[in-house]
Amino acid sequence: MSSFSLGGDNLFLGIDIGDSSLKMVELKKKNRRIYLSNYAFSENVSEINFTKVEDVNYLARALNKIRLEAGITAKKVTASLPTFAVFSSIINIGNVDKKGLTEAVNAEAKKVIPLPLDEMTLDWKIIPDASGKISTKGNAQVFLTGSPKKLVRKYIDIFKAAKLELASLETETFSLVRSLVGDDKSTVMIVEIGANSTDLFIVKESIPVLNRSLAVCASTITRALAEKLGLTYAQAEQFKFDLSVTLAADTNEKLPQLLVKTLEPIVMEMEYMLDFFQSQNKGNVEKIILSGGGALLLNLTEYLSKRLNLRVIIGDPWNRVRYPEELRPVLSEVGPRLAVAIGLAMREID
Ligand SMILES: Nc1ncnc2c1ncn2[C@@H]1O[C@H](COP(=O)(O)OP(=O)(O)OP(=O)(O)O)[C@@H](O)[C@H]1O
Ligand SMILES: [Mg+2]
Repeated sequence: MSSFSLGGDNLFLGIDIGDSSLKMVELKKKNRRIYLSNYAFSENVSEINFTKVEDVNYLARALNKIRLEAGITAKKVTASLPTFAVFSSIINIGNVDKKGLTEAVNAEAKKVIPLPLDEMTLDWKIIPDASGKISTKGNAQVFLTGSPKKLVRKYIDIFKAAKLELASLETETFSLVRSLVGDDKSTVMIVEIGANSTDLFIVKESIPVLNRSLAVCASTITRALAEKLGLTYAQAEQFKFDLSVTLAADTNEKLPQLLVKTLEPIVMEMEYMLDFFQSQNKGNVEKIILSGGGALLLNLTEYLSKRLNLRVIIGDPWNRVRYPEELRPVLSEVGPRLAVAIGLAMREID
């Protein structure tokens, strides 16, 4: 946890509520520039599992404890809905005018969303056509998301109980696009390797056009190491961190075979998505951006780059944020894990 703060007005707080971690980033806007004000994260919060625990007041207290211990004072919050809880799809709308659009989207949504629509909050964006124009006449492609109203209601209640102003709620995918891609118009693939899942998506013109989620993730590697070496989970987690340091020290060192094998389903999914995207004649993916704690597994970028014959980088979510130079080493280390929270904090600034 950090303990520096710029304080004052124009503060924006992004809160990434995960299954086993809670992360916050506070940004400050000053003279059209964005500054890092503060950040905090808490791991192993499985005992305060936000998606499962129903006691709203308890969750509000847990959230405020982490917030206040770090000295975070922003009252305006953007929070994320876990990707697995949100349904998203691209739908085709044929021959409609501006007036009939909502009706047409609802009719299509009924076909693709597996839950009753009155239990969902729908949100949608028209995808720009090849020339970058947004048409509301004729045929249009629409990016649709649906979130369970019950979960949205619960988050609203948590923030109300925490006496914070919930300015917006969004899917992690959008936060990641904001912090990792920004205004970059090139087509990229983002691979977020978290502790509980790996989320992969291809982003074109800032819109996630292809989405997949995998159970193979950063903790899968820890479990594989624990099993192979006869270690406890905590020991294997430490071993994994040390391994990254060792691999960093000796750049000739290859990613160990056990890790290569464990990560194979992720690589296969990436290959599949790249092929599928290309087969639809939607252009080429120019680079792959890794994020999430799993991205810190050193030499992973080199390994993937060779396997897929594409540029692979670890994303820098601090790209548009100014911060004291002496914090650079620690911030680049925590960056991949805070990418969602940074993107959330930026939402209301943009
Ligand atoms: N330096 C490192 N080297 C290797 N792995 C690391 C490193 N730092 C963190 N990790 C791994 O990253 C994972 C945590 O990543 P992250 O914080 O993105 O997950 P999360 O947001 O809590 O999970 P999720 O988004 O899936 O719910 C852990 O499994 C941890 O072992
Ligand atoms: Mg996460």
